[in-house]
Parts: sequence; C-alpha cells; structure tokens
Amino acid sequence: MGNLRVLIIGNGGREHALAWKLAQSPDLERLFVAPGNAGTVLWNVAISAQDISALVAFALKETIDLTVVGPEDPLSQGIVDAFHKAGLRIFGPTQAAAQLEGSKSFAKIIMESAKIPTAKWKTFEDNEQAKTYVRTIGAPCVLKADGLAAGKGVIVAMDLETALQAVDEILEGGFGAAGKRLVIEEFLTGQEVSLLCFCDGETAFPMAPVQDHKRALEGDLGLNTGGMGTYSPPPIWTAEIEANVMRDFVAPTLQVMRERGTPFQGVLFLGLILTEQGPKLLEYNVRFGDPETQVVMKRLESDLLPILWACTEGRLAEAQLAWKEDVAVCVVMAAPGYPAAYVKGVPIHLPEVKNSDSVIFHAGTGISEGQLVSTGGRVLGVTAEGKTLHEARQIAYALVDQIEFPKAHFRRDIGVKGL
Ligand code: AMP
Ligand code: GLY
Repeated sequence: MGNLRVLIIGNGGREHALAWKLAQSPDLERLFVAPGNAGTVLWNVAISAQDISALVAFALKETIDLTVVGPEDPLSQGIVDAFHKAGLRIFGPTQAAAQLEGSKSFAKIIMESAKIPTAKWKTFEDNEQAKTYVRTIGAPCVLKADGLAAGKGVIVAMDLETALQAVDEILEGGFGAAGKRLVIEEFLTGQEVSLLCFCDGETAFPMAPVQDHKRALEGDLGLNTGGMGTYSPPPIWTAEIEANVMRDFVAPTLQVMRERGTPFQGVLFLGLILTEQGPKLLEYNVRFGDPETQVVMKRLESDLLPILWACTEGRLAEAQLAWKEDVAVCVVMAAPGYPAAYVKGVPIHLPEVKNSDSVIFHAGTGISEGQLVSTGGRVLGVTAEGKTLHEARQIAYALVDQIEFPKAHFRRDIGVKGL
C-alpha cells in the first residue's frame, strides 16, 4: 500500500464524508469523486454514478488502485462485478450479494436461514390474497415494496384502511418494478439503531453505532425521509448488545452468504430495532448509510484507507479500527418543502469553519455562476463532535444558525432522544 489513487462514486453527504476522511490518509496519492457535489469540488469528475461502463473506463485510464461505491443503485446494477471483470479493485458487494438490500424478500430468506430475529412476514403478488392476509393480522402492520424504491417503499399502516390501500398502491404500479412483489410484516416497536460493519467476506468489524432520525418533523412526526440527522453513540446501545448482534446477526449472515457462494465484501449495514424481546433486524443495507457516515467518519480515529484495502484483500482481521471517545452529531439541512416537492437553486452562504470539531458536509449542492446553490433534497450535513452529546449538539446547532440558507428545513431535536 501507499501512493494510492482512489475513486469514490456518488454525490451525497456520505460521499463528501468519505472523501474528507480519505483525503487525510498518508497513503493517498490522488482522490477522485464521480460525480461529487460542491463540497468535493477539488476531486470531482463529471461521470454519473449510474454510468458503470464510463466509470470502468475512467478507472482503467487513470490507473485507479481502489474504488469505493456510495449508493445502492450501482451496486444492485453490478458495478462491482464489472470492475472485477476489468481487473480493478473495488470496495463493495457483488450484484448477487447486494440482493440483501435490493430485494426485501431475499433479505428475509437470508435472515431465516441465518436464524436472525426479525418481524414475522409473508410475500404476495396478488392483491386479494394480500388483503385477506391483512384482514387476518389486522393493523398496525408494515407493507414494503420488494425492490429498491429510494427509501420510499415502506408503509407503516396504523389502521386497516391504510393497510388495504397500501396493498393496492404497492402492487398496482406505484413503485414500478420494485412493487411487483409485496412483503407484509408484523409491526415492531422500539428504538432504532444503525450498525454498519466493514466486511471482507469472512470477518466483520462493527463501526460506531448510530441513531438516525428518519421522520421529517420534530418529535418523529411527518413523512419518512432518507434521514434528517444522526448522532453517535446512542446511549441505549451497549457493548453487550453489540457483542450479541455481531455473534447472532452479523456472523451468521456472512456465513450464509459464503455458503451460497456469494461472500459479502463491503459495508453490511443492519437496521436494528431494540424491542422488549431484544434486538430484531428490520433490514439490511449493503453500503454506507447517509447521514450515518457523516458521524461515523467524524468519530473514526484510524485511517480509513487501509481498512477498505484490507476488506478487498480478505485481510480485515489484521486491520486497526479505533474510535474517538467524543460524541458526534449531524444535523441535515434540507431544501424548503423536503421530503415533498422541493425548491432547487436556493443560494447558500456558509461561514468559515475554523474549529476542527465541526465540518459542514455537502449533499445536494452545486455551483451556479460562482454561487453555492442547493441542487437536491438533503443539502447539508452540519456535523460536530463534543465531549458530551449536549456539547456536540450545541456546537452543531451554533453552526447551523450561522448558515444562510433561506427557508431551509431541518429538525432542532437531533440527538434529544439520547440526552
Ligand atoms: P426500511 O426501509 O425497511 O428500513 O423501513 C423504513 C422504516 O420503516 C424503518 O426505519 C422503520 O422506522 C419502519 N419499519 C420498517 N419495518 C418495520 C417493522 N416491521 N415494524 C415497525 N417499523 C418498521
Ligand atoms: N440513513 C439510512 C440509509 O442510509 O439508508
């Protein structure tokens, strides 16, 4: 290792956080981000994250030593297989292994073979059969489009009428190909925790645990979003829970995937819910979370590059992974109107960040005629660390208050659950 040329794929806050961390590595020679955002402008290459053949060609031309994939779509489309075929090293799961996120029914089958505690479930392709089942189990229940639906394919139905409507909505084309099949699940209650793990196919190392805030409004009200903010570590998470989850959830998943001939290399992200009967698995993601990665990278003491490299070599067991004691908070500032139809092109003025305890990660940002503007739904991830959660929140919100972003939508209660 050393003098490495690294390519990051994606354009969100997660990718800016990965770029920010990798740029600090003594082993890095040159960084590229495709396509990136205004926060990664030093490293940007104008190639879309979906254009797999152009990304392969770029990596060959620029003799990229390691590629790191941010979003789920290119993984589900087989970007890792395409890079391997071209003899290129890439961090992330193959198309077959990415099915853990790409198909909710596949994920449930793996959870079952690995004997992982999860919500009871059934799959349907026929509306009438699904409705008969919904009437039998009653509300509340959870209905999910089987395929990738940009985080919008899950309906938590608190009453029977909503559940019956959701059956039609999902199966009758509201979610395109993702909605050909429907998964209906038992409703679980408890606090949610995101646990991301580095995996090399055999070994898994947990990252710092994170709590996301998925709902748009304070007090966990309003619509589900990609995530309005995160903090790490959540006090509800203990070393004992972590040891149990690594033994009973992560290790059996890796084993089942190996036995199927599709070993999992990359980030295995468990969406857990801590119920009265113990932790249960809501879902797998096969990539870094957004905005989980922003706080995880802020707290990672070790160099990220050797860890990713070790995963691609099947030598993760030899890697070093150390975390700061500090607490980190990330407050997402979204476009006016988000998560419904939102405004784009809002001019933004950022203060100079002088202290190393904070960093403003960009997500949906761009530069238009020399001016920083919003280009997406989630726009900034204002991230801070402090000795305590209280302090980290104070630093993060003090910075939020210095940002000029007219009518930005954000929550004032990120991390309050952990106080
Ligand atoms: P998913 O995309 O599967 O993570 O679902 C999105 C969100 O829906 C989760 O973060 C939970 O808040 C909620 N959810 C999913 N499955 C269930 C379940 N079985 N019981 C309760 N809430 C759920
Ligand atoms: N923040 C949740 C996700 O990345 O899926």
